Amino acid sequence: MTGELSPIDKAKFAAAKQAASLVESGMRVGLGTGSTAAWLVRCLGELVREEGLRFRGVPTSSRTADLARDVGIEVVSLDEARWLDLTIDGADEFDGDLNLIKGGGGALLQEKIVATASDQMVVIADAAKEVERLGNFPLPVEVIPFGWQTTQALIEETLVSMDVMGRQTTLRMNGERPFFTDEGNHILDLHLGRIGNARQLAMVLNQIPGVVENGLFIDICDKVIIGYGDGRVETR
Ligand code: 5RP
Repeated sequence: MTGELSPIDKAKFAAAKQAASLVESGMRVGLGTGSTAAWLVRCLGELVREEGLRFRGVPTSSRTADLARDVGIEVVSLDEARWLDLTIDGADEFDGDLNLIKGGGGALLQEKIVATASDQMVVIADAAKEVERLGNFPLPVEVIPFGWQTTQALIEETLVSMDVMGRQTTLRMNGERPFFTDEGNHILDLHLGRIGNARQLAMVLNQIPGVVENGLFIDICDKVIIGYGDGRVETR
């Protein structure tokens, strides 16, 4: 499954493999999105095929759903599962309080719904994702396409009154066209540099009409499994 991996992929694989061992037969498990989460899904597929692991997976994107089915995982919707034992997902940044920026892969809405509906959320990440303060990674904000430029202007106005360094916002593109999420929305990436009060910013952004959800995950993550290029893992 792994072949010859780069150090970064070795790190992602190591974290994913460790997290896969948390999944037990009978569980309902949220499956994240992104390259690290894809390693997790492949590891779980191997356990299903070779060790007889039986669990139901709730994917957080159409991409993850396709991969999970391909590797032999039983896929169900969140409405079928209702509540989950565990969600395992990647992150773009995590800080010392295990608060996160997510949404680099554009799946933050389903990811937040699924993680919030779980007894436990475990993040898997390479060591480069650890930061002292969130905000260097552009904060993704999912907005509905109707009037998105007005929403963008309202966000920029709001940022002026917040404790952030940068205020530039950009519409995420997919080549020449705006990027569309699985829900048919757009993503605005907020280039903030440093977020002083992430909890407050997360609440304020969600008050703006047109904003569906933002990529700040505050008090949602319970544990981070950090992978290193030499195959070591560390848990926070
Ligand atoms: C997708 C996400 C991903 O978990 C995040 O972007 C990390 O991705 P990767 O594991 O590829 O670095 O939030 O919306």
